[in-house]
Formats: sequence, C-alpha cells, structure tokens
Amino acid sequence: MSTFKAGLEDIVALRSEICFIDGQKRQLVYRGYDISELVGKATFEEVVYLLWNGQLPAAAELERFKEQLAAEAALPEQLVDFLKASPKDAEPMAVLRTAVSALGLFDPDTSVQDREANRRKAARLLAKVPVIVAYNGRLREGKDPVPPKPELGLAANFLYMLHGREPGRMDAEVFDAALILHADHELNASTFTARVVTSTLSDVYSAVTAAIGALKGPLHGGANEQVMRTLLAIGEADRVDEWLEAALERKERIMGFGHRVYKTGDPRADYLRRFSQQLGEKRGETKWYEMSRRLEQLMYEKKGLYPNVDFYSASTYYMLGIPMELFTPIFAFSRVSGWTAHILEQLDDNRLIRPRAEYVGPRDQTFVPVDQR
Ligand code: SDX
Repeated sequence: MSTFKAGLEDIVALRSEICFIDGQKRQLVYRGYDISELVGKATFEEVVYLLWNGQLPAAAELERFKEQLAAEAALPEQLVDFLKASPKDAEPMAVLRTAVSALGLFDPDTSVQDREANRRKAARLLAKVPVIVAYNGRLREGKDPVPPKPELGLAANFLYMLHGREPGRMDAEVFDAALILHADHELNASTFTARVVTSTLSDVYSAVTAAIGALKGPLHGGANEQVMRTLLAIGEADRVDEWLEAALERKERIMGFGHRVYKTGDPRADYLRRFSQQLGEKRGETKWYEMSRRLEQLMYEKKGLYPNVDFYSASTYYMLGIPMELFTPIFAFSRVSGWTAHILEQLDDNRLIRPRAEYVGPRDQTFVPVDQR
C-alpha cells in the first residue's frame, strides 16, 4: 500500500489527456492549449468541443455542434413543472442537483452506455443545465422563465434567459471567457467524484449529479457566492483592513483564497481580475473591484495566499447582474463540459477506482453480551 496523504494531496490517481496544471508555473492547459491561447480567441463552444474531442472544431463541425446544442436546449415539461414547484428559497445548487438527476428519467439514452449515447447525453446536459439555472433564477424571483433563443450561443443565451434581454457585446464576451476559464481543472474534487461514479459503470446522470453535490461545497465551487457575501458584508473599501484583521483573528477561512495545487497564484484569477475591473468601470461601480484588490494585497502580505478562480469571478458576475445564489450553479454550467470530458475518457479505459484506507482502529475485540455491557 502507498503512504497515506490527507486529502489525497499530490497523489496521482490516474492518467489523463484533458487538462494539465502546473502549480508552480501558474499554468492551465486544455488538451495542449494554454488558456492564453483560448481566452479572447475561442468561444466556449469551441473549447467544449476541444475538451470532448481533443481538437478544435472546423467551421462546419462547430456549426453542427451549435445546432445540436440549440436543438437539445428545451426542458421536458415535467421538469419545468418541477422547477415551478420547487420552494422559492431552495438553494439553487440543490435545485440543480435534483433537476439534473430528474433529467435522466426523461432521456431515452439514460441507460445506454455506448460512446455515442454518452456523447449525446453530454450534449443534452450542456444544453439543458444553463436553462435549468436561468429558469430557477427567474422563478425564485417570481418571474416567468424566458426560453432560450436558438440563434444565441450558450453564454449570451444564459444572460438573455436570466435578464429577459440580450446582453451587450462586452457582457457576452466576458461571460463567455469566464465559462472557458471554469470549464475544466484536472482532478478537482467534483471531477474526481464524476470519475469515481463512472468507474463503477454507473450512468452519466448519476456521475454529474454526484459532481454537482461535490462542487456545492464552500471549499470547492461554493466559494464564489461566499466571496460576494463577504464583500457586501464589508460594505466599503475603507472597512476591508479591519474586517480582515478580525476574520484572521477568528482563524476564519477567507473565501476565494488559496488552492490545493496553485501555490504561486491561479492563472484564471488574472483574467477575472481584469474582467471585474472592466465591468466595474463600464458600470461606474468599481468599489467591489477595489475592495477585492485591497483584500488580495492584504491576504498576500498576511498569509502569503493568492486569489483563486472564485475570488474575482464573484465581482465579475455581480457586475453582470447575476444573483449571488446563481454563482455556483454557473460554475456547474461551465464545468459540466469538463466533467463529461472526464466521464468519456474514464469509460475509454476504465478501471474501478477503489483506493485503500490505513486501518488505525482497535483490534482483537471480544464480544460481550448486551446484558453484561
Ligand atoms: C476551487 O481543486 C481545484 O482545482 C478546485 C478549483 C477548480 O477549478 O475546480 O480550482 C475550484 O475549488 C477553488 C477553491 C475555492 N475554495 C475557496 O476559496 C475556499 C477557501 N480556500 C481554502 O479553504 C483552501 O485554500 C483550499 C480548500 C482551496 C485548499 O486547501 P488545502 O490545499 O487543503 O490547504 P490547507 O487547508 O491545508 O491550508 C494550508 C494553510 C493552512 O494554514 P495552517 O493551518 O497550516 O496554518 O493555508 C491556510 C490554512 O489555514 N489557508 C487559509 C486559506 N486557505 C488555506 N487561511 C485562510 N483563508 C484561506 N482561504
């Protein structure tokens, strides 16, 4: 047996061709393309195609892929009814987890395990998850859902469905880039969860439902919403220092900082920091960006910690007019592409994922009947 490492830190659990991370060089690479080669150049749909197929799509392939996603966007009526019946104050990640599980009941391929069927299920999930998130977002505010427009891409369509009006060019491009930045991230907790479930030859819907459950936690995808709650609680830039002093005094985890792999900073934060600043300047509301910059500076000075992907995505999404409760569901919307890429790869060369535990409990116990205990 190998030596025990808490949290499987630095343990290599499998080999993959999908995503490479270098925690020292601040590198994130999808199928050989550094994110600097993709952000601002490719669309989210092109990156998903790359994650699933190992190469960027040619123009005709991209058009067919976008048509497939548009054709798969409609939700089963029963699922819309479920969303309408869901408690208005239910956590959107809990609604999404439940809705994705329910989706599997209406998919004719749900129990079909061949690669083409799994590709179809991946496309259905990618097309439907943003619709579920946007519908839930509107319903919880007492508004009617807005069906997607087939001519819009995934990023612009989400903002259209959420706000009931098409986004401006800059908002759509920033959101599309944010989706690219969240698409995949090697063997993070939710992706590992998806691979463990897949390794038992369970189905895609079970694996993605489990992954959503893992992403929901504040140590993983749930941090972005908490970052925005922190900024709102601090309220003003001149209160950041005292707030942080007190929080660190209480030994609190500051959401949006630190990372298991990136020890010299998260390359995704560099893009999101810029988006937060650009959108803040465009809206004449730079205080959330400025407060974030001050927090970033202090966290480095006091804890030697850097912001991760969740830190600046908070103020970026807030400037896009997205409700905080939808921040993590949006992370799931993007990461469905990475999860399904890993599910497909797991099935290409599957072996049941079953690590060992080092037993440190008692031994050689003798049974004592209950009337003598
Ligand atoms: C994501 O894995 C991925 O790739 C995930 C992700 C992805 O794309 O899938 O990148 C997305 O999940 C980003 C992380 C979002 N979570 C948060 O922002 C929550 C706050 N961050 C932490 O809880 C923490 O940094 C983790 C969970 C992200 C990483 O934790 P580790 O690797 O287990 O590190 P650790 O808890 O052992 O901390 C090491 C030290 C500790 O100090 P000591 O107790 O040894 O003195 O650093 C301190 C920690 O206390 N520390 C923090 C801190 N993060 C680490 N102290 C204050 N605030 C923090 N945020």
